[in-house]
Amino acid sequence: MKVLGINAVFHDPAAALVIDGLTVAAAEEERFSRRKHGKSPVAFSTWELPEQAMAFCLSEAGLAAEELDAVAYSYEPALAPQPAADITADEWEGLRTLYARRAPLFLRASLPGVDPDAVRWVPHHVAHAASATFASGFDPCSVLVLDGRGERASHLAGSFSGGTLEVLAAQALPHSLGLLYEELTAHLGFRRSSDEYKVMAMASYAEPSFLDAFRALVRADGEGGFLVGDVDFSRFAPPLPTGAEFTPAHAALAATVQRRLEQVLLELAGWLHARTGHRDLVLAGGVALNCVANSRLWREGPFERVWVQPAAGDSGTALGAAMHVAHQLGDAVAPMATAALGRGWDEDALAARLRVADVEFERPSDLADAVAEVLADDGVVAWFQGRSEFGPRALGHRSLLADPRRAANLEKLNDVKGREQFRPVAPMVLASRAGEIFDGPLPSPFMLFTHGVRAGWAQRIPAVVHVDGTARIQTVDPAQEPLLARMLARFEARTGVPMVVNTSLNTAGRPMVDDPRDALECFGSAPIDALAIGPFLLRRARAARASGNGAAGERTRAALA
Ligand SMILES: [Fe+2]
Repeated sequence: MKVLGINAVFHDPAAALVIDGLTVAAAEEERFSRRKHGKSPVAFSTWELPEQAMAFCLSEAGLAAEELDAVAYSYEPALAPQPAADITADEWEGLRTLYARRAPLFLRASLPGVDPDAVRWVPHHVAHAASATFASGFDPCSVLVLDGRGERASHLAGSFSGGTLEVLAAQALPHSLGLLYEELTAHLGFRRSSDEYKVMAMASYAEPSFLDAFRALVRADGEGGFLVGDVDFSRFAPPLPTGAEFTPAHAALAATVQRRLEQVLLELAGWLHARTGHRDLVLAGGVALNCVANSRLWREGPFERVWVQPAAGDSGTALGAAMHVAHQLGDAVAPMATAALGRGWDEDALAARLRVADVEFERPSDLADAVAEVLADDGVVAWFQGRSEFGPRALGHRSLLADPRRAANLEKLNDVKGREQFRPVAPMVLASRAGEIFDGPLPSPFMLFTHGVRAGWAQRIPAVVHVDGTARIQTVDPAQEPLLARMLARFEARTGVPMVVNTSLNTAGRPMVDDPRDALECFGSAPIDALAIGPFLLRRARAARASGNGAAGERTRAALA
């Protein structure tokens, strides 16, 4: 069966294609439209479909829209508040429902040829759950979904077995841990539904001084759900204007909400485990991008293994909805083997793009070593390889790399990306070496947990150790990522350190680089020393002059012309 999944309702519109149970492609609309998070998360934007992401998924498989057996839409309007006589009442909630119900009509316009009757609505949290259960390959397992909201709930706790989900608990709105965190994000001067990870980073700078108050305000209900009272953040710290420096009270508030979230999650996991007795837990929903909370669940929770969908936010519901419907249609759904499900270019296409841009480039005989040399020489390298990542993390396909031994590289990368200086950058490390250096769940291929740094290592890799002594690592397995692993091995050969700094390849406020032109624009507009794009290497002029090894690789512009 050929199933196209789409997420369009709230934010992070995305599409995914599952054919005969295999995930063929998945991508977020922002990577094409270059508008961060794809669209504004308002009810009246629900009609907008991820047109370019859908078109990409079909073209990746060489499919025509007519050939789709089903379109899985990750929201069930029948479960949502129904439109009242005044469609603008209740913050346009009815309009959202109406637009979701009319998705087949919008689809007919944005994906000509598709059969409008092919649309199947999948409850939002069922789609999130499927993105973790089917994608993890864990069966049986327990599943927890926590986000801002779905149709009428903000949470799902379930038992998954033989491809079937049994919902054991669901917390109705207005109680929402995701919305609580979003509100705090806005209170601290950041963008809601976008900058929650900044709050998580800020939380490391203080003790959770207001826990007593928050124990009463936010608590598990003992029946698998939770209560979130009326929280007035101003009682603890005044609203922070965007861009203003945070005070100790703001950091204490962030630390408190973070800590309370972790505690409630542990209680929810305990309740779930008591009912299922499963060994494994899988997570999805925007809250599951909170890698500090995920690590506590792994460390202190009752489950042996914890797997998190890398696109845990709403974009992942496109994939989950497609997997759910594929299963309903009788397909055996295969686990997600990689997050590299977006666009990719072959060598010829990359060379053609570089020629059009009229830039000088070389083709090193050993690209991994050439990049390791630039990094060891304290250069910053843009690394564009293979298909782009699905989800918010750069995992070595659209990454910005640097030397973790130099503390100043944290500031340098935050400057390149226009980020706040209190935010950490993360290391990617050879999987075989990770256990010697880091303490936490391994392997960790999707950067969804934080790890302790073992004694003796923190001083060696100051750029990637957060103020609380942790690092959010990505482990690199040579069987899955041979080029990346070789680059790490060559860097270790030069420096003795089997890891590099990895952060997403983008500049301030922009979506991650996706296509070669984005990569060239980013390289041209930021102080990046080299761009490794496919087998080719571009060096910033001063780097080429300094190393004097322009002859190290074949100068290919002339050769290819
Ligand atoms: Fe969601």
